Amino acid sequence: MSNESGGIHWHQQSVSREERERLGGHRGCVVWLTGLSGSGKSTIANLLDHRMHSLGVRSFVLDGDNVRHGLNAPPSVLAPQHGEEFAKRFGLGFSAMDREENIRRIGAVAELLVEAGLVTITAFVSPYRRDRDAIRQRLRPGAFIEVFVDTPLAICETRDPKGLYKQARAGQIKGMTGIDDPYEAPDRPELVLAGGVKDAATLAQEIVDYLRNAEVILPEVR
Ligand code: ADX
Repeated sequence: MSNESGGIHWHQQSVSREERERLGGHRGCVVWLTGLSGSGKSTIANLLDHRMHSLGVRSFVLDGDNVRHGLNAPPSVLAPQHGEEFAKRFGLGFSAMDREENIRRIGAVAELLVEAGLVTITAFVSPYRRDRDAIRQRLRPGAFIEVFVDTPLAICETRDPKGLYKQARAGQIKGMTGIDDPYEAPDRPELVLAGGVKDAATLAQEIVDYLRNAEVILPEVR
């Protein structure tokens, strides 16, 4: 974390991350789920969160569909209260630059939650490698756990819970990830989950096993 940028100074907090982690009995980290829309990220994230909670591990889910209602709301949501100019400047859609900013903001929030000692679970398409790597760079080694939910496009399209793929195929929406906008799979993710082959509960358990092996969750947590 840089000490100074543009006249803004980082204030060292008096309770350190290590002290918070000792109190919690586990380390803070980000479990960064990435994959196509409909790949199962949110379902896996919520199952993992539930599992963490029952183990007594403090966790929290940041999910694309929810965060895009508030922190990263689209211009149409911001305009009525804040006006058109504000909405245009700060509202986010799905252009490459808007996605970059979406992921940058989420990364910054995740970083704070890691400092608070939480197992932070994120569920965003996050299609661009560069944006994910930028967050990895900001966290201490081992704290960014990239999980590729590798569900084939054909399966995501069959699921199509919001009808977006159908609309994209019909040319009614532009820039749909996997159709006419790229998805860049991670080069070296910490975990690859075979979405579409195994059920979500099994995949969530694979993450729990990883967290135990990596000693994010300590052996005494049962
Ligand atoms: S990201 O690309 O910026 O990481 P994010 O995860 O926040 O995306 O939001 C993805 C969700 O928005 C999808 O699950 C889908 O429901 C919806 N969505 C709407 N338009 C698009 C689009 N063009 N590409 C991908 N997802 C879209």
